Amino acid sequence: MTKRRPCIAGNWKMNMNVADSLKFITEFTHELKAVGDRDVVIAPPFTSLYSSGVALADSELKLASQNVHWEDSGAFTGEIAAPFLVDVGCTYVIIGHSERRQYFGETDETVNKRLHAALRHGLTPIVCVGELLEERESNKTWDVIERQLKGAFANVTMSADNMPLIAYEPVWAIGTGKTASPAQAQEVHAMIREWVGRAFDAATADAVRILYGGSMKPSNSRELISQPDIDGGLIGGAALNPEHFAAIVRSAV
Ligand code: PGA
Repeated sequence: MTKRRPCIAGNWKMNMNVADSLKFITEFTHELKAVGDRDVVIAPPFTSLYSSGVALADSELKLASQNVHWEDSGAFTGEIAAPFLVDVGCTYVIIGHSERRQYFGETDETVNKRLHAALRHGLTPIVCVGELLEERESNKTWDVIERQLKGAFANVTMSADNMPLIAYEPVWAIGTGKTASPAQAQEVHAMIREWVGRAFDAATADAVRILYGGSMKPSNSRELISQPDIDGGLIGGAALNPEHFAAIVRSAV
């Protein structure tokens, strides 16, 4: 089995202006010292990407955007294209976060278009999937996740050079303080990996990194990330605090 490199990504959502972002980067790099054998990613809001990219120029930390449009340029008021993200130093992009799906009309089809655009421009996508509470309670978890995966990865070629990451984020666990238990999360992660094996091949299933997201914090990250199919985390609330985010990174070994 491939040893998968853990990835810890902080999704700042609609928080942190330029000054806050730079303060975070200073404090976090002081706190963490070494990234070690992990990928550590922060996803500031669009307005902080450029200044954060400059601040991270000599650092091992990676910069992500929280969204990307599927066209490369044009009359799409309010949207940001992949080449612009590359221009400001982004190497990762979060796609299909449940908040985009819930509040901004994101569909499996638009997730797919964004994923193609990200790959075309060499950005590493973090594709988010996850079920609502009522879907879990009516035993529809896997139906929902499978539909989201099939939609997102339609006509996508998985290459070892730029392999998308998948983030499993049960919607009922996001920002609620309720975390999926390590066993609950592991069960879905294993099913996602099996799906990747069926949709692509065994080597891809072995290599793809699957992150857990939903109220991950220093007190639960070690146990979650130590599950066999959990390769890191996508962290919201706890990623706004440099000490907490650093503690989560250190727990990923
Ligand atoms: P949370 O958010 O850690 O605040 O639950 C996770 C996410 O939405 O990516």
